[in-house]
Amino acid sequence: VWAKVPMGPPDPILGLTAAFNEDQNPKKALFGVGAYRDGNNKPHVLQCVRSAEQAIVEAKMNKEYLGIVGFPEFVQLAVKLMLGPDALKAGNVAAVQTLSGTGGCRLAGDFYARFLGKGTPFYLPNPSWANHKNIFTDAGLTVKQYRYWEPRTCGLDLDGMLADIAAMEDGSAILLHACAHNPTGVDPTIEQWGQISDALAKRNVRILFDAAYQGFASGDPERDAAAARLFLARGHQFALVQSFAKNFGLYGERVGALSMVCADADEAKRVDSQLKILIRPLYSNPPVHGARIVAKILSDPALTAQWREECKAMANRIIAMRTALRSALEATGSPKPWNHVTEQIGMFCYSGLTAEQVDALRTKYSIYITKDGRISMAGVTSANVEYLAQGIHEVTK
Ligand code: LMR
Repeated sequence: VWAKVPMGPPDPILGLTAAFNEDQNPKKALFGVGAYRDGNNKPHVLQCVRSAEQAIVEAKMNKEYLGIVGFPEFVQLAVKLMLGPDALKAGNVAAVQTLSGTGGCRLAGDFYARFLGKGTPFYLPNPSWANHKNIFTDAGLTVKQYRYWEPRTCGLDLDGMLADIAAMEDGSAILLHACAHNPTGVDPTIEQWGQISDALAKRNVRILFDAAYQGFASGDPERDAAAARLFLARGHQFALVQSFAKNFGLYGERVGALSMVCADADEAKRVDSQLKILIRPLYSNPPVHGARIVAKILSDPALTAQWREECKAMANRIIAMRTALRSALEATGSPKPWNHVTEQIGMFCYSGLTAEQVDALRTKYSIYITKDGRISMAGVTSANVEYLAQGIHEVTK
């Protein structure tokens, strides 16, 4: 029946895990998917999550369906976490629970395709998370790129970005990474965000913030919310996608939110009604367990404080591993500059390795990083950092 179905390529990020699992080399090491590992390279469940789960189990809650828009308490707490405690007071934010960040992006993409029109230009930073292109293309938008990364400085190409914003088609849309840009680990400063806001204020371009790493950029979720809060304070209307996979370690629970800051409460109600109409035929309503966990933590001051500490500890371990990787690279005698390893922030190091060097790392050393040279720093430990550095040195000689 499916004789004409061609073989598809593996996913550039998740496909690495599958290849890694089949690799028989005992020295193999995986730095692909952005999933936090502890100092022993083991998946990590936060203690505040364990406590919240315990309370949920003890409360013997039922397993009824959530409403189409999800668990309202979770959604409200999620929006306030990023946009501040007063964000919902004016009633102009339409917000729904989503299937983590991917589901939130796809829902936003479907909304844009329906109300801005199929084929609407949708601008991603160059580069961006590999899945963004698939998500917004499949939603029916025309994915384009704006300048972001400057290879010469391993930093932000602000002038290029501002020029590209000025030249975007009227009525198009742009995605901004709220913090801890994936894959480059390069974020605008708050002054630069001000300039980006000024440039966008002159344009009829819809704004979508993707926030998958709140807490991972600076270790402080409030500081990591600065860009989105600046845009809110300046009166921008925008969509915000939040993932709770990384900062709460709830990867497989698929917990996320999409909120849309609207002109007023009436517009928000209409947007909300249309989000429901999009969600119902997609998946009816989202899963309940992860949303209950986040809601429990964010509604309990002691658990919230514990979460902040645990989130900071994860961010700090990654920062420590950046220092360790840079030192190990410098200790190999590599003449190349490795300062960007410690200057970049968030979960990833955008190493500058070419696709050929990435291939060589994999075939010669069974070290797995994504084709664009991105290393998931969350997978680096004191036990594997030297092997990684040696491998990088050998393939970049
Ligand atoms: C990543 O970039 O590795 C993560 O966002 C996980 C994913 O789904 O790709």
